[in-house]
Amino acid sequence: MKTEVVILAAGKGTRMRSTLPKVMHPIAGKSMLGHVIDAARAIEADAIHVVVGHGAEKVTAAFSGDKLSWVQQTEQNGTGHAVRQALPDLADDSRVLILYGDVPLIAADTLKRLGDLCDGQRMALLTTNMNDPTGYGRIVREHDKVVAIVEQKDANPEQLCIQEVNTGMMAVSAKHLNKWLPALSSDNAQGEYYLTDIIEMAVADGVAIDVVQPETVWEVQGVNDRAQLNELERYYQSCKAKEIMSEGVTLADANRIDIRGKLSVGQDSYIDVNCVFEGECRIGANVTIGPNCVITNSSIGDGSTIKASSVLEDAVVAEDCDIGPFARLRPGTVLAARAKIGNFVETKKAVLGVGSKVNHLSYIGDSELGENVNVGAGTITCNYDGVNKSKTVIGDGAFIGSNTSLVAPVTVGRNATVGAGSTITGNVADEELAVARGKQRNISGWSRPQKKN
Ligand code: UD1
Ligand code: CA
Repeated sequence: MKTEVVILAAGKGTRMRSTLPKVMHPIAGKSMLGHVIDAARAIEADAIHVVVGHGAEKVTAAFSGDKLSWVQQTEQNGTGHAVRQALPDLADDSRVLILYGDVPLIAADTLKRLGDLCDGQRMALLTTNMNDPTGYGRIVREHDKVVAIVEQKDANPEQLCIQEVNTGMMAVSAKHLNKWLPALSSDNAQGEYYLTDIIEMAVADGVAIDVVQPETVWEVQGVNDRAQLNELERYYQSCKAKEIMSEGVTLADANRIDIRGKLSVGQDSYIDVNCVFEGECRIGANVTIGPNCVITNSSIGDGSTIKASSVLEDAVVAEDCDIGPFARLRPGTVLAARAKIGNFVETKKAVLGVGSKVNHLSYIGDSELGENVNVGAGTITCNYDGVNKSKTVIGDGAFIGSNTSLVAPVTVGRNATVGAGSTITGNVADEELAVARGKQRNISGWSRPQKKN
């Protein structure tokens, strides 16, 4: 049996008070809808249909290039109406999992359990028990069997006491949806076509209704406002922090780390407070990361140290390197073992060989440095003439004096030396010394201008 997923994402999300469609708000750097789509992909759904309405263009644009089928619901007339819009796109013999774009932390395992209970004869509901069920649809049972879902606004006082609630997620065969959805009526307190009304139709048709519950209530928690968005963000981050610690990593404070993507960390590494990891980051063993670092799509080799307030993006750092504090490694920075990038140094498309050092206040861009190069404080590679980017190449063992400008394209040879304060516009051969600065003139007996009274 094929499995198709329908994700409801047409609602406005008024309480978010945002121009961004609700389902596009991020949890851990990925939109809520993105999380739900990933869960659907994780169970290898044969097709994923997303019902969009409010802000549809923004939503579809964000996923352009993904294999998704978009369903337009121009008027939001209820959850039953929303799913109905997807009917023409569903294969008759599919099982259909209905998910919500604003319930982002649903686990693939739970979806799998839910889907497995649904075939041509049976359907399955995802329910949970809540101490305070206010606002949710209540699961009405008779002799233990589910017989109906009653919305808060339509419930009688007795039903309002029911603590088992509808999460909204369910698995139903397309065949049944085709029969039931066109028969829904909007004769209820909200004047909407309730998806939940299909339960009574299922009962009438003798379709068995199974119930699955999630591992944790977080999986079925929806987001209606920014406070709820933040609750889920913090829950998600606490799970990520626990994962990292279970791999043998010490965190200075498990509540002060943010992982927005995939992070792997080797044993005995230490991460200080307020670090943010984005995209895919691989960090080796025995790495120390100081406070306030932001690390994006980068890898850091065993034994390296990243000191406070450093920012790394698309950088590759080998073993035993020493970075920061206040270093900025921009895309294309590749450091070999034992390289050192000190404070207030910016690198971009810079390849440094083993043991090379740029310790203070420098910009190294579009550059290739050999092994054991020493770049003095305040050195700038002048890589841009306003139109073109050019390359600086520095050979093994070269020594670049402080406050040097290297006007690219330029090459400094192996073991060459550049005198401090030089503006280097021509190549320097191996072993040569280049000095390119104004000659010092000393004037004796010169007197400074004096202030007149
Ligand atoms: C729905 C359920 C309720 C359940 C609750 C769980 C119904 C009638 N009620 O109520 O039993 O306890 O979810 O959160 O199903 N949507 C559309 N198009 C529409 C209407 C809604 O795409 O026309 C989407 C919304 O964007 C949202 C989801 O469906 O993602 C749920 O809609 P919402 O209005 O929040 O449903 P509830 O009234 O909370
Ligand atoms: Ca809701």
